Amino acid sequence: MTEELLGENGMDWASLEAELDGARANDIDHDKGLAFVVHADDALTEVGKKAYLKYFSSNGVAQGAYPSLARFEDELVRATTDLMRGGEGVVGTVMPAGTESCFMAVKAARDWAAANRPVTGTPEILVARSAYPSFAKAARYLGLNEVRVALADDLRADVAAMAQAVTDSTIMIVASAPTWCHGVFDPVIELDALARERNLWLHVDACVGGFLAPFFKKLGQSVPDFDFSLPGVTSLSADMHKYGYTPKTSSVILYRNAEYAAYQSLDFDDWPGGTYGLNAFTASRPGAPVAAAWAVMKHLGTKGYLAEAKRIIAARDALVAGIETMPALHLTAPPEFCVVTFAATGFDVFALADALAVKGWLAGRIRDPRSLHVMVVPRHDRAMPGFLAALGETVAELASGQTRTA
Ligand SMILES: Cc1ncc(COP(=O)(O)O)c(C=O)c1O
Repeated sequence: MTEELLGENGMDWASLEAELDGARANDIDHDKGLAFVVHADDALTEVGKKAYLKYFSSNGVAQGAYPSLARFEDELVRATTDLMRGGEGVVGTVMPAGTESCFMAVKAARDWAAANRPVTGTPEILVARSAYPSFAKAARYLGLNEVRVALADDLRADVAAMAQAVTDSTIMIVASAPTWCHGVFDPVIELDALARERNLWLHVDACVGGFLAPFFKKLGQSVPDFDFSLPGVTSLSADMHKYGYTPKTSSVILYRNAEYAAYQSLDFDDWPGGTYGLNAFTASRPGAPVAAAWAVMKHLGTKGYLAEAKRIIAARDALVAGIETMPALHLTAPPEFCVVTFAATGFDVFALADALAVKGWLAGRIRDPRSLHVMVVPRHDRAMPGFLAALGETVAELASGQTRTA
């Protein structure tokens, strides 16, 4: 039994380890969990872990104390810029997670608009309904209005509806590459044209796609342009801890040039400590995820990322083919990237999720359209035969009315 956390006597490591292992026993099994948790293979995880431990106690707040971390951050930003086809002028920062990358883009857009194209009333940011909630969060924190526009029938941003929704107060639009919910790319080329025509800040949320799309493209998969090759893209977020396979948590925010990037920071000197530059929320920043991200990228190299992308394509295609053999299931969005969503007829698809969970398989759930959500990662190439067998069996049970739920 767990005793109270701050018991009178401390616990030695051997007992603690046993307790931690016991506590973890019911957590997700990464070989079976098909939920949204991107988890690298064990061997790759070890590389990240070892690098992480070397920098376990480092703190990015101490500028100048860790020149190695500054170098790693610079190299990570350069590598991400190259993948996103940005030029020499692109400036970026390593961020703790995608949410903060998106937050900083909204903050920069707000301050850029205040300085360059002030609007009447509360500034608005315009996003498709499928944009990640980070933008709603940022708008609420930053005193902006977030306007969500209904999706087109193909579940992508509806460009005509977004164009119509632009008002005199709009300062920014967001495009997802791809969306988390349905795994589809918004029409970024058209949104880019809209942004340029209306002098709006365009943020591309490539938190999911940033480290995968370039490799899918190289493998001949069809991926639309969404990056700095489009002239109107002002900022772009890409998460390393998703398809960069780096330890949690780490992301990159990029700006087309230093002028835009300058709106991210906040300079402060009204205290006895002197000038204080704020480029992120927190002052203390763990250096370990930065070092680990650098090590994982260095370890994988382009060939490694291509190999991982190939595995994802194989696992995704196997999943899609499997679903297509089950008449009770149907895909709800084109499986064009790394996300597969599917619904059921004859029974509730969330009952399917409940029954799969009893068997140890975790799938995500989407409300609209009501469907299950699988974010395919490389290790799913091994998991897929087992998952498809469990899926087939559970679908049959539900169709015949005999199933167990948690
Ligand atoms: C498209 C997209 N943007 C932003 C985020 C936020 O990222 P994080 O969970 O790292 O804060 C996510 C997370 O899944 C995402 O899928």
